Amino acid sequence: MSQSVVKGSELKLKIESLAYGGKGVARHQNFVIFVNNALPGEYVLVFIYKIRSGYAEARVIETLSESPYNVNPKCNHFSVCGGCSTQNLEYDEQIKQKIKQVEDIYIRQAGIDNFIIENVVHAENQYHYRNKMEFSFSNRPWYLDGEEKNNPKFALGLHVPRRYDKIVDIEECHIQDKDFNKILDLVRTEAIKNEIKPYDNKTNNGYLRHLMLRKGYYTEELMVNIVTSYENPSKLKPIINSIINHFPNIQSIVNNINTRKADVAYGEKEINLHGDSFIRERLGDITYEISANSFFQTNSEQAVKLFETVQHYLDLKGDEIIFDLFCGTGSISLFLAKLTKEIYGFDVIKSAIEDATRNSVINGIGNAKFHKVNLDTYFKKGRNIEDYPTPDALIIDPPRSGVHKNMLKSLPKFKANKIVYVSCNPTTQARDIVRLIHWGWKLQSMTLVDMFPHTPHIETVALLKK
Ligand SMILES: C[S@@+](CC[C@H](N)C(=O)[O-])C[C@H]1O[C@@H](n2cnc3c(N)ncnc32)[C@H](O)[C@@H]1O
Repeated sequence: MSQSVVKGSELKLKIESLAYGGKGVARHQNFVIFVNNALPGEYVLVFIYKIRSGYAEARVIETLSESPYNVNPKCNHFSVCGGCSTQNLEYDEQIKQKIKQVEDIYIRQAGIDNFIIENVVHAENQYHYRNKMEFSFSNRPWYLDGEEKNNPKFALGLHVPRRYDKIVDIEECHIQDKDFNKILDLVRTEAIKNEIKPYDNKTNNGYLRHLMLRKGYYTEELMVNIVTSYENPSKLKPIINSIINHFPNIQSIVNNINTRKADVAYGEKEINLHGDSFIRERLGDITYEISANSFFQTNSEQAVKLFETVQHYLDLKGDEIIFDLFCGTGSISLFLAKLTKEIYGFDVIKSAIEDATRNSVINGIGNAKFHKVNLDTYFKKGRNIEDYPTPDALIIDPPRSGVHKNMLKSLPKFKANKIVYVSCNPTTQARDIVRLIHWGWKLQSMTLVDMFPHTPHIETVALLKK
């Protein structure tokens, strides 16, 4: 290790690139230093606050010269909100950095030779793309410069990075649908005016916990889900009335009750306060009914491109049997069903499978079947595989942790020649693909679909063939 990289020291560094996750990468005499909130091409004076085996972590004391890719962030909350940490980086450079990160993970970390990303699907709309947002209420707001507004004990917004107890009071967020900004304002105004108290996650007192907003990008149907710590919907009346006054066509207002300590935006019970308990979204020629707690892709425009990439990789002739492992609400299965002989979706969440089944009926799809199973164990050592016809191809879209080892080891037993692996975490995707290559598959092609502009999140689709 270089002598001069010691905890507590200051160094001048040139930022070379962004690491997966968004930190700047610099080197001092070949020792790697990860720098928070730094851009490629920037020249910075940093403070080393942590030394680990093989690398150090640092924060910027002073920017000595700006990155050539630096742009003014649109958002007023940029410096405190962790939501869009690369909003100050030119969009094309964001994409270049994401490509480099995936290449680094596959080539250097996973040791896969001849790796290339064949196709990159940029986002045409880099703002107002999110069809869903989850905000938190708090009595511990976080203001810049210690400024206290009219109501110092109320905030509705997003978490300060690494501070579970502090919430940035968000006035305007540029990556969400524009209606969401208006609803944030209405809910905040009515809650303060009527003294409806935010929940305090230290004492477990208070009522308002989360505000979840959803809107069909292609249908414009709107859902408001207010998550509270106990059941007393009459308390929400002023908020509900104000939302209905301003959005008379609103499709759905629900109240989820979460009495547990876990800081999550879904509850043990849901009360329907206005309209339906779902909204509709339309991707391609499929209509999806989505309820408050169901997973749905958050960028509808890019989701269509993601599903078209899966379709392109499967190269369907119409007589194939397809398994969609980790199918969620069946969005990919339903998008492709009419091009297949049969498609089988598997997911552990009961409501997701119910949504998928209902959505197949709504769309008149008779050849998609959905099963609620825990894939960590269901097909372990090849169990239950014989209950299904032999698939021609597998679609795999697991959570960030990747495919559980029991499920992964069973994949060769399905005897499918083709696998299309969709992932929101290239690190676990590369780990799993190394195993698949070991068992005889070849990594044929890779596409990066940018689902999340201005954030470090990466979505990749891999095609593997026997
Ligand atoms: C990235 S989402 C896939 C979403 C889906 N392909 C879509 O586009 O809507 C991952 C899914 O894995 C499911 N999941 C997580 N762990 C699971 C398990 N052990 N068994 C089955 N499904 C699981 C989650 O419920 C979630 O729906």
